[in-house]
Amino acid sequence: MKDSENVMLIPKIKLGIVIDHIPAGDGIKVLEIITRHEEMHEVVVSLGQNYKSKKLGRKDLIKLQMDYLSPEIIQHISLVVPGVTIKAVKNYDVHSKVVAHPPKEIKNLLVCKNPNCVTNLESHIESYFTAVDKEIKTVKCYYCERVFELHALEPNVD
Ligand code: CTP
Ligand code: ZN
Repeated sequence: MKDSENVMLIPKIKLGIVIDHIPAGDGIKVLEIITRHEEMHEVVVSLGQNYKSKKLGRKDLIKLQMDYLSPEIIQHISLVVPGVTIKAVKNYDVHSKVVAHPPKEIKNLLVCKNPNCVTNLESHIESYFTAVDKEIKTVKCYYCERVFELHALEPNVD
């Protein structure tokens, strides 16, 4: 890499979370999920877009100045942008890496697209989807039994 290409990169961090391998353009979606969670409102966040990547060609990445990202937020991200890598940095070293895959059972995180589904008619009934295929590309609503592409479903905003 030439020196001139280095200038705009976000510096390495001493302590924090890096959300890596986000397909270019999807960083903003991950950011949107993060901002929806109350506990993230005061966290220092940096978004990098269109970084060069061997795996993806171009990628986005996000750095968070915090030492712990809750499993709920990781799960939420995995539903909207599957396959990102969550890296925890401690004392400048990447301490752990986890690839965020969508779970086989998705409770109360997505909205069913069927307007007549009981989860949309009764506010106290939480949505519940189960995976149809191994890759978790399609999911089925437990209540109305309709099948949807995972990427077509909107996240639940409380
Ligand atoms: N990173 C950081 N601060 C550190 C260490 C790493 O901000 N102290 C960031 C780097 O900027 C990089 C990302 O974490 O964007 C990935 O680091 P690492 O896992 O070491 O990189 P690779 O080995 O290239 O990762 P992979 O093979 O998973 O693509
Ligand atoms: Zn339904």
